Amino acid sequence: MQPVVLTTERLTLVALTDADVDVMTSYCQDTVLKDAVPVPWPYEREHADGFINELAPQWWAESSEFTWAIRRSGDPLLLGVVGFNVKSSALGYWLGAPHRGKGFMPEAVAAAAKWLHSMGHAELHWEAVVGNAASARVAEKVGFEYTGTAPALGQFRDETHPLCWHARLTADNAEPAHAALPWPT
Ligand SMILES: CC(C)(COP(=O)(O)OP(=O)(O)OC[C@H]1O[C@@H](n2cnc3c(N)ncnc32)[C@H](O)[C@@H]1OP(=O)(O)O)[C@@H](O)C(=O)NCCC(=O)NCCS
Repeated sequence: MQPVVLTTERLTLVALTDADVDVMTSYCQDTVLKDAVPVPWPYEREHADGFINELAPQWWAESSEFTWAIRRSGDPLLLGVVGFNVKSSALGYWLGAPHRGKGFMPEAVAAAAKWLHSMGHAELHWEAVVGNAASARVAEKVGFEYTGTAPALGQFRDETHPLCWHARLTADNAEPAHAALPWPT
């Protein structure tokens, strides 16, 4: 599949480009990211280069993972990333530190989820390491339903599966597989 462009009131979600390599390298020096998402560590420029110029385009082409750069509409600066892995149905996201606290992520995730539902991905999965309240609040604001605590489905860089909060977002016409619980935060 060709990369899909999504728009919201303030944002454009679009494929990463080579021009994002340096800024992504800079954002990914953040230890908050190291502990929250499975980025390589220490994070080097070659990691951003390989992700942006090889992996992400390959995943779009084979429709195995959809990765979007989040930008303000009309501004090429990379703010962060939203990604969806087709096999696990997992939606993940992060923002560069200067761009947090402005409500961008719920807006971006809602747009990605709407498109994914329209493409037939009826149940989207979210997980975050227990205690990641900012990520949980984003998922809750988008309408994800909390389903409980369990080891991460995805493997972390140390090959462990840390204890995570899990949630799901079903398309309007889909039957949820498990009962929802109150959010822990
Ligand atoms: C998760 C992340 C994308 C959220 O982005 P953000 O810009 O902080 O989110 P928002 O400003 O839209 O805030 C979302 C909500 O979370 C709340 N929030 C933010 N940080 C919080 C914290 N540390 N504890 C509790 N709530 C928090 C905000 O108050 C807001 O809620 P409100 O609208 O009811 O006030 C960002 O913190 C991030 O990139 N974190 C590192 C990567 C990461 O954890 N990714 C998710 C992995 S599962």
